Amino acid sequence: MRNLREKFHKIYSYLTSETKTYFSPGRVNLIGEHIDYNGGLVFPAAIDLGTYGVVNARTDRFFRFYSLNFTEDGIIETDIDHLEFEKKHNWANYVKGIISELITRKYKIEHGFDLLVYGTLPTASGLSSSASLELLTAWICNEMYQLNLSREYLALLSQHVENNYMGMHCGIMDQLVIAKGSKNRALLMNTATLKTTAVPASFEGYEWVIMNTNYPRKTTDSKYNERRRECDLALSIIKKYKKVDYLCELSENDLIKLKPHFDDLKIFNRAYHAVTEQARTLQSKTAMENNQPQVFADLLIASHESLKNNYEVTGFQLDTIVYSAIKHGAIGARVTGAGFGGCAIALVPKKDVQKFHTLVGNDYHAKTGLKASFYDVTFVNGVDSYVD
Ligand code: GLA
Repeated sequence: MRNLREKFHKIYSYLTSETKTYFSPGRVNLIGEHIDYNGGLVFPAAIDLGTYGVVNARTDRFFRFYSLNFTEDGIIETDIDHLEFEKKHNWANYVKGIISELITRKYKIEHGFDLLVYGTLPTASGLSSSASLELLTAWICNEMYQLNLSREYLALLSQHVENNYMGMHCGIMDQLVIAKGSKNRALLMNTATLKTTAVPASFEGYEWVIMNTNYPRKTTDSKYNERRRECDLALSIIKKYKKVDYLCELSENDLIKLKPHFDDLKIFNRAYHAVTEQARTLQSKTAMENNQPQVFADLLIASHESLKNNYEVTGFQLDTIVYSAIKHGAIGARVTGAGFGGCAIALVPKKDVQKFHTLVGNDYHAKTGLKASFYDVTFVNGVDSYVD
């Protein structure tokens, strides 16, 4: 991203040798969906679409925030003593939430900063634009106030802010992969222990294509929190009969044996998704190690079906784009992220990618009236400084 320092200069009318630039990636999840809050194994990667930040420390207690994506909000101003959530501060609440939480945890923050951000992630598309902004802010604070916090700590802090300040009860996947992503690799992430292993996540001759339905995920937060509550309920039923901490500790057989104890089939189905998705992620790890693209692709399709039928987080637009992708050359495809709109991914033979964009784009448009977008991304390192 070029010229962001110039933009900073234009907005704030100064630039110094101390003005720093940073990049925080977005994320795509290959498989292991909606199990990062059930102690499951997930398989995300940090991507080269993300959030850029240009920042300069101030000597007083004021903060100024400006986003090139929300120019209508103008410069948002506040100070160290006024960091509570305010609806009118829109995107800047993520930034305020991080600073506020650091202060609550007694880290020494005695002066403010001026920040300009620019995001290349489409908002509300399931590619984690909010976690990207949280980690950007956490990283900036870590460097500016010399806090010496680990990447894992910054991820947990950001998740805490998303859960308690923003009210979205997400798991740890997005924040942890944005903190710890690895170039050309995806992270196998055990969300019960937070252990991550970077693995090459590509198949010779195939490409990962991200497909944006451009159907915004309007009800995502409330529906997402509802799914979490349903999983908690399922776990509380199971705990009466079996000693477990997380749904993903159960095998499919264990769960089926407990089915008579569920009065509500819907709650059983939520748990069934979690347990089988865990098994699929484990199998996908083996498929990756054994270089079996079709095995991996079949797991993607099975994951989508379970998210559609058992977990009910897909919907007409996502189902349409996924089925269209499979019809027009992808060997596998599925929703990625929270669902209810946003993006899906497809594994496509490299030689067919251009044709694939056109065929799926036309088909999807004919069926939904919406224009899809396609992104060919690369997998990158976690949040860090960046030379503009
Ligand atoms: C959102 C959340 C993640 C994860 C996914 C679904 O992206 O932020 O924690 O639960 O949905 O897998």
